[in-house]
Order: sequence, then C-alpha cells, then structure tokens
Amino acid sequence: MRGQNPVHQMNKMQTFCSFAIIFVGFLFICKKKGYAMKRIGLLTSGGDCQALNATMRGVVKGLTNNLKEVEIYGFIEGYKGMIYGNYRLLTSEDFSGILTRGGTIIGSSRQPFKLMRVPDENGLDKVEAMKQNYYKLRLDCVVILGGNGTQKTANLLREEGLNVIHLPKTIDNDIWGTDLTFGYQSAIDIATTAIDQIHTTASSHGRVFIVEVMGHKVGWLTLSAGLASGADVILLPEIPYDLDKVCAAIEKRHSRGKKFTILAVAEGAISKEMAELKKKDRKKAMEKMLEKYPSVSYKLAADITERTGSEVRVTVPGHVQRGGSPDPFDRVLSTKLGAYAAQLIVNDEYGYMVATVNNQIVKVPLEESAGQLKGVDPNDQTVQLAKYIGISFGD
Ligand code: F6P
Repeated sequence: MRGQNPVHQMNKMQTFCSFAIIFVGFLFICKKKGYAMKRIGLLTSGGDCQALNATMRGVVKGLTNNLKEVEIYGFIEGYKGMIYGNYRLLTSEDFSGILTRGGTIIGSSRQPFKLMRVPDENGLDKVEAMKQNYYKLRLDCVVILGGNGTQKTANLLREEGLNVIHLPKTIDNDIWGTDLTFGYQSAIDIATTAIDQIHTTASSHGRVFIVEVMGHKVGWLTLSAGLASGADVILLPEIPYDLDKVCAAIEKRHSRGKKFTILAVAEGAISKEMAELKKKDRKKAMEKMLEKYPSVSYKLAADITERTGSEVRVTVPGHVQRGGSPDPFDRVLSTKLGAYAAQLIVNDEYGYMVATVNNQIVKVPLEESAGQLKGVDPNDQTVQLAKYIGISFGD
C-alpha cells in the first residue's frame, strides 16, 4: 500500500516540516512588522495627577501608529475595574484632544496593595479575579499608570504571570528607579504659585506664613516649590526639624528688618522629638496631635506663636496641587514615556517600569523598583546649596 511506503512517508514529513517552518517564519515577520493584532488593557490607579491622559495618549498613539491592529480595553477606576470586570473598549477618538486635560478619562481609585491578597466582602480573591479578566479579554499586556502602591500590585501581577508595563505617576516624585514621575512638575508650578501669592500678602502684614505642600512621606515637591518661590524656611520629612532652629530663623530675619517669613512645610514634615520616638509611639503621638490640629502645619503654627509671639497664618493648597492641565514639561515627558511604553509592547518586552534616568527614557525591571521609596537625601546638592544661601531646613 502507498501509505506504508517509507519513502512516501518521508516526503510527507518533509512537506509538513517545510509548511510549518514557512508558517512560523510568516508569523515571526508579521510580529516584527507589527501585523499581529494586540489587545491591551489600560488602567490608572491611586491619587490622580495632571498628566495621566497625556501619558495614555502617548501609549495609544504609539501603538496605533506602529501596529496594524490594536484593541484597547480601559479598566474603569483602576484595579477596581480589573477586579470586577468593569471595562470599556476604547477607540482612538477617546484619546483625541486629551493631551492638555487633567484627571483621567478612565477614572481612578485607591486599592491598597496590602489588601490585594485579602478577599473582598463577598470572599472574592482579587488577584485571581484580575487574572481571570486578563485572560478572558485575551490581553497581551496591561499598562498600569500609578504611584508606589500601584507599582507593587503591578509587580504582583507580573509575578502571577501577567504581562505588565508600569508608568510612574505621582506629584510626590517618590518612585525609586526614576529621576522623575509625571505630574510632579505640574504640581511644582501650582505649589510655587501658591507660595508666590502668599508672598505679597505676607509682605503687607508682616506675619509668619506657613504653606503646607503635598508630597506624602517625601519632600521633593516642597523642596522644589520652596526654592522656586523663595521660601525662607523649608521643612521636609527627611530632615526632622528642631523648633528652636525654626524660631531662630524667623527671629534672625526679623532682627534684619524683614517683616515677614515664609515657611514651605511638607505635609509629612516631622519634629525631631517625634522622629526620635519608636514607630509605634510615633504613630500614637501623631494621632493625638491630629486630634487637636488639622495637620502638622497648624501644630507648628501654634508652637511658633507660643515661642515667638508672632502672628502665624497657615495655607493648605491641598488637592489643587493635583488639579488642572499638565504643564508643558509634563506634556513632553508623558508623551515620551507613553511612546516608549508602546515600543516595549510592539517588541513584546514586559515587566518593566518606563523611567527617566539622566534625561533618558529607559526601562527598569519592576522587581528592582517595586516596594522602594525615593526620598530627598539630606546631603543632596540642592539641599546643601539652598542652605548656602541661608534657607533654613530647621536642623
Ligand atoms: O500621592 C499623591 C498625593 O496627592 C499625596 O501627595 C497626598 O498625601 C495624597 O495623595 C492624598 O491622597 P488622597 O487624594 O487620597 O487624599
């Protein structure tokens, strides 16, 4: 029989192998040339900032410009949408005209990393649910825009086998492994303007003014806005302050005939006494302090008045610092970060944060960055040079 002829069997085998090789080669070329269809998830998580939309636009423009076909699924309100399967198929139209728009077109929410492994009130395993939605949508990757906590969850999803790319968002600029986060520069502009405005009224009244700047546990925003606006005293969480030194700085200015003093105080600023306490005791002392005062700045104001007799006013710009349009610097940064993320996706490179290092956009493995905080080094040249011109850091 023909089918049993070994030579014929050989020929059949060879033909099959040739077709298989041609097919695999074809797939490879398609992928390289971007002919393969990709399905991408997109989410924005944590506190928002000015350039989230600008960054997503960069990603989507990079993908649509370089792939024949791409589907973008936006998870609504961050990880919440990915957990509960709340998503929307987005079109190029959704990303048109959003370069300058603040906020996020797909919404955001805080989903603490420490609760990711804790089932929800209905016993739902959140991580498994996110994986199921990822596989259900047959995603090639999920692009995650967020800060530190968001990044930890992104890394968790990577460990669970999902393809992820993280884009570093936060006005706090506290993500380890990148010199800059998007949102930071725009927030500097706003905090600087707030302190600038205080300057004129402070000079009329001869008072002490405290402007409390956001930044969570780090002082980048306060340091930059404080320098940019000519604050006289800058207090950062990384440099615990001594009340005596702060009051001495105010009195020194007054003795030189300066009628007013402006303090840029980070929301996470901490006194030396407080910093010296054990973690548990510090938490308790902090809670007690917050029972009496709305924030650290109000306590500091009361202390300064008691010591120096000065009239002190506190201004807290708060969430204004995260609002409005991204500034031109952030628009450029976000566009570059987004385009680079798209390049990684086109090349099937996953598990990275897209970072800025020495003015270059680079990829940083998520496992290297996740879980680390980037604070201001008290020996940083900026701090040292600021001290050189007489700015007090209260230390
Ligand atoms: O992380 C950004 C940030 O604005 C911090 O500077 C601030 O401490 C925190 O978020 C405020 O969080 P929420 O918007 O949840 O009040």
